[in-house]
Amino acid sequence: MVRHFLKDDDINSAEQAEIIRRAIALKKAPYSERPFAGPKTVALIFDKTSTRTRVSFSVGVSDLGGAPLIIDSQTSQMGGKESVADTARVLTRQVAQIVWRTYSQAGLEEMAAHSSVPVVNSLSDDYHPCQILADLMTVQEHKHRLAGLNFAYVGDAANNMANSYLIGCALAGMHVRVAAPAGYEPDLAIVQRASAIAATTGGSVEVFGEPAAAIRGADVVATDTWISMGQEAEKAKRIQDFAGFTIDSDLMSTAAADAIFLHCLPAYRGYEVTADVIDGPQSVIWDEAENRLHAQKALMVWLDEQSKISQHS
Ligand code: CP
Ligand code: NVA
Repeated sequence: MVRHFLKDDDINSAEQAEIIRRAIALKKAPYSERPFAGPKTVALIFDKTSTRTRVSFSVGVSDLGGAPLIIDSQTSQMGGKESVADTARVLTRQVAQIVWRTYSQAGLEEMAAHSSVPVVNSLSDDYHPCQILADLMTVQEHKHRLAGLNFAYVGDAANNMANSYLIGCALAGMHVRVAAPAGYEPDLAIVQRASAIAATTGGSVEVFGEPAAAIRGADVVATDTWISMGQEAEKAKRIQDFAGFTIDSDLMSTAAADAIFLHCLPAYRGYEVTADVIDGPQSVIWDEAENRLHAQKALMVWLDEQSKISQHS
């Protein structure tokens, strides 16, 4: 069966470690893997805006010997005009992989159900699993390990990044501590899923109502925008609701002395994080942004190999 990557736990802990290891190798030797030589085409579909994801997947597909095809759903037959299933049936006959940034997780599942090539979630309302691979790679580079590290996420803990951090960091054996204001806590089902994974990897999951408890002694501190794509109408209310959740240098000073700071970007300085933290010495956000390229290349190579294994078994 073809493998897809729609959410962080579509791969197991060993597979996650293998992809991160290969991402670090690809960073050293960017043109050493050529699974898309031909060139084969990879469809990159965008229902939401993007800078990093569009660039890193386009460059990544080219580096792997292929041709990236960016499809803007606004100017295609997708988005209510033609069904996801029919779109999948057309694409799957012509492209090597399908990468889709969209709203609904159910849409991604429908695409995967009708595709005989790997489908990758490049951000949905529920998950951003490619970002977490890049983030874990960045932590591995700076801390030389993942399992056992204390990972703090502060902010909107009900969004795609929080869900993916909970699941992805638990898979990596980290101690994940999340802090969010009332009304923005993670879904109980996600916390339970992450906790069940952590129980098998030696990690743990805790949810707090204020940032200090989550950040104290953390090795890695992360945040994300308070207003995700599609939530723009709630901006004024959210800015009020998240008061006290800005990561500033006072909060950061309560983390481990050698803690690193992550943000998937785009960032809104003065809201979820102050400029002195995100632009300061503990911030590794530019490594993190670059690592999208390497991590996604490793993922695409791995998915391609898995498809070949399944064809021959
Ligand atoms: N972090 C991230 O996914 O960035 P873009 O929205 O620019 O792709
Ligand atoms: N939570 C953010 C992530 C952006 C990469 C959003 O969905 O807009």
